[in-house]
Amino acid sequence: MSSRRLSPDQPQSFAFQPETLEKAQWWMTKYPPERKQSAVIPVLWLVQKQEGWISEPALRAVADLLEMAVMRVLEVATFYTMFQLEPVGKAALIQVCGTTPCMLRGATELIALCEAELGPRDHLSGDGLFTWQEVECLGACCNAPMAQINDYYYEDLTPESLKAIIDAFRNGETPAPGSAIGRRSSEPAGGALTLTDPSLYDGSRALPITAIPNAKEPA
Ligand code: FES
Repeated sequence: MSSRRLSPDQPQSFAFQPETLEKAQWWMTKYPPERKQSAVIPVLWLVQKQEGWISEPALRAVADLLEMAVMRVLEVATFYTMFQLEPVGKAALIQVCGTTPCMLRGATELIALCEAELGPRDHLSGDGLFTWQEVECLGACCNAPMAQINDYYYEDLTPESLKAIIDAFRNGETPAPGSAIGRRSSEPAGGALTLTDPSLYDGSRALPITAIPNAKEPA
């Protein structure tokens, strides 16, 4: 888990880009004016999308925008681990799940690969392209082991497939997310074994509405 402290290296200032501000104001309109602080999480997320991380000047700018105490914004940013409090790699932020199902399926080897390829966890790699972190369950245990890379899930990983993904990001590519072994969603490896009849999904088995007791035609 990454450190939940602000980075010792902070920029001098932060400014909302126009499109970030426009989206932030859209979020603020979802709440009554006196409750606009409720938009703090999406506004922080927009800041992170703009900058890659949440700096101390950015926290202050968010507090000004939402007219709330800086400490309240800091509390939110340090509580939720989705907010990065230090600069992260320009090519990829790799979040390897280390919780039990992923660990039993090989997360330890993925973590060892990240250490060997990218250096210590929670730090920028030497070339500034990567940061990797170990995180708790990301809810894709069926396809363990897995990692979230930037905004997408990469699943059914092995050290070899994760290395290929890292190499692709290093070369400026964005490899396709999903299962590294071609598994569709969380079906069994090798394909679905049940509910495979296409007529289950094409509507041909639906009863006409007149055959359903007490059903009324739509007005
Ligand atoms: S344990 Fe890794 S996604 Fe749930």
